[in-house]
Amino acid sequence: MKRGNIFAHFVPLSLLLLCCTLAMGGTTGGKESNDKMGFIGALTCKDCHEAQYNSYAKSIHFKKSIKGPQSQDACETCHGAGAKHVEKGGGRDVDIFTFDKKKDPKEKSARCLTCHQRTPGMDLWEMGAHNRNDVSCDSCHELHAGVTQKPKDPEVCFGCHRDIKIEANKRSHHPILEGKVRCSSCHAPHGSLSKGMVRADDPQQLCYKCHADKRGPAAWEHPPVEEDCQSCHSVHGSNHARLLNERIPQLCQNCHDWSRHPGTPYDNKATFSSRWDCLRCHPSIHGSNSPSGGGMRHVR
Ligand code: HEC
Ligand code: HEC
Ligand code: HEC
Ligand code: HEC
Ligand code: HEC
Ligand code: HEC
Ligand code: HEC
Ligand code: HEC
Ligand code: HEC
Ligand code: HEC
Repeated sequence: MKRGNIFAHFVPLSLLLLCCTLAMGGTTGGKESNDKMGFIGALTCKDCHEAQYNSYAKSIHFKKSIKGPQSQDACETCHGAGAKHVEKGGGRDVDIFTFDKKKDPKEKSARCLTCHQRTPGMDLWEMGAHNRNDVSCDSCHELHAGVTQKPKDPEVCFGCHRDIKIEANKRSHHPILEGKVRCSSCHAPHGSLSKGMVRADDPQQLCYKCHADKRGPAAWEHPPVEEDCQSCHSVHGSNHARLLNERIPQLCQNCHDWSRHPGTPYDNKATFSSRWDCLRCHPSIHGSNSPSGGGMRHVR
């Protein structure tokens, strides 16, 4: 790994930034490593790349991490030492590190990680599904696009996860399009050890974070509720009300044998559809605290 990463554990940030740039200079600077590393400063870059210079000057990287545009701690922290590139009059892939689509994604991410190894949540990047599937930092983060480099969520995610976009547009859905929850409210885009990269030990615990009222224990529990909310709910979206996987009664009949249902489960006032509406008589579907036997049957 890069020297900067090892130092990251015990040097202050200002020193760390210096180490990062040195380490990067070493990879692209090659021969000049004894010769001031070949850094040339942002103002030289500006001569030919004014648009990128201007966007960079507005960015958090300029404001927070970088001491001044003349310093080597600017463009070259990401693009590598630029003296050779400038000597040769510039050009695509002429002695400068680019974030092209063709570039090795791991190599691109390593550029960012020299400084961001210790960003909270980044410790699981290596084993996260994105890194393992060749998604690099610049797939989500645009570095020359504006004041903040934080991506637009969910738009950026929809770009690759078309199937989820379709789900999120269904009749019943978590309010992602409405902006009340974001993809990253539930998922850790930088990686997590949990199934589906969720921001909890497992998907079930995730639900309780926002729906604490559904967490037991209830006096009369409905076993699938404790075990797996997703046995009845499709989390991103569904064409059935309340994010249900299927309509009622089919949903219930996956597990319950209707033929053994007691007595006359409907009266002569009931319409055809309400007769099949299990919830009309069993409304406490997530569990009941009613003290009587009615609780046990989730009828109260
Ligand atoms: C924090 C990392 C970082 C810094 C600092 C940075 N860049 Fe970039 N640059 C990138 C990334 C990543 C891309 C790929 C496109 C994108 O994500 O916006 C890029 C793209 C470019 C491109 C190619 C543009 C294109 O669309 O093909 C140029 C030219 C460039 N940067 C110049 C500069 C200059 C000049 C500076 C300093 C004024 C600078 N960059 C500072 C990360 C950085
Ligand atoms: C003398 C002019 C000149 C200077 C100075 C210069 N460049 Fe370039 N650079 C170019 C030209 C020309 C290209 C090719 C652009 C193209 O084809 O779109 C280029 C390409 C790039 C690219 C790759 C863009 C791509 O799409 O492949 C990056 C990144 C870049 N320069 C960064 C820098 C940085 C960082 C500096 C300062 C250290 C710098 N340049 C200084 C002229 C210059
Ligand atoms: C030279 C060190 C350095 C490098 C290299 C670097 N960053 Fe940063 N970055 C910082 C610092 C410092 C901050 C300020 C926030 C902080 O204090 O953590 C920051 C902030 C950010 C933010 C937060 C933006 C916001 O609006 O809050 C994002 C996103 C980010 N960097 C992404 C990247 C990506 C992607 C790369 C690689 C293309 C990269 N950085 C490379 C040092 C660096
Ligand atoms: C799959 C998309 C995606 C990838 C890939 C990705 N990020 Fe992010 N990143 C995000 C999102 C979304 C946020 C905003 C999270 C938030 O606002 O809570 C973010 C936030 C950040 C921040 C701001 C600090 C924070 O936690 O809010 C930094 C710094 C950052 N990312 C750096 C990186 C680096 C470095 C890489 C590559 C090693 C990377 N990101 C890869 C989506 C991504
Ligand atoms: C550049 C394309 C790309 C972008 C942008 C992207 N992803 Fe992914 N994502 C992938 C790939 C590739 C995989 C791995 C294969 C798969 O599961 O589809 C993946 C997997 C996932 C997984 C499944 C993890 C697992 O363990 O099963 C989640 C969750 C996820 N991404 C969430 C997000 C979120 C949230 C965003 C936006 C912040 C996002 N992705 C942006 C490409 C992308
Ligand atoms: C309310 C929480 C929540 C929100 C919001 C959310 N997800 Fe998920 N996502 C989950 C859960 C839970 C799973 C299933 C994990 C498991 O059991 O494997 C999942 C699974 C996934 C998977 C794995 C493949 C699949 O289809 O199951 C991807 C990819 C994914 N989500 C992407 C996204 C994207 C992109 C967004 C934003 C548009 C998003 N998610 C919003 C909770 C959420
Ligand atoms: C980050 C917070 C968050 C997490 C985590 C979360 N939800 Fe939600 N959920 C919401 C919000 C917000 C709503 C909309 C509430 C409203 O509009 O009144 C909602 C609504 C729902 C609804 C009702 C939908 C409707 O049409 O009325 C169901 C069902 C649901 N969530 C199930 C789940 C399940 C199952 C999980 C775990 C896989 C989960 N939620 C995780 C925030 C969350
Ligand atoms: C056995 C199937 C089943 C399981 C398992 C299940 N639900 Fe539900 N859930 C339903 C049904 C049916 C409704 C619709 C109730 C109604 O319309 O009166 C519903 C409605 C909801 C609602 C919206 C209305 C409300 O009561 O707030 C939320 C939120 C919700 N469920 C969350 C969860 C969570 C979280 C879990 C896991 C802890 C879970 N559900 C497990 C069947 C289930
Ligand atoms: C994933 C399977 C599953 C689904 C789907 C499901 N249940 Fe259940 N349900 C169970 C299990 C398991 C029990 C416990 C059975 C037992 O203890 O004999 C149970 C118990 C019950 C009981 C109490 C029975 C008793 O003997 O105490 C009622 C009433 C009930 N479910 C109604 C429903 C309704 C209504 C639906 C649809 C909204 C539904 N269930 C969906 C698995 C499921
Ligand atoms: C008209 C009211 C009514 C409707 C509609 C109804 N039930 Fe019931 N159900 C009851 C009553 C009352 C009991 C309790 C009977 C007892 O305690 O002996 C019961 C008991 C049960 C039980 C536990 C006993 C057994 O048979 O294992 C299950 C499971 C159950 N219902 C599931 C369902 C499902 C699934 C539906 C929808 C297909 C449904 N019920 C529709 C009134 C109803």
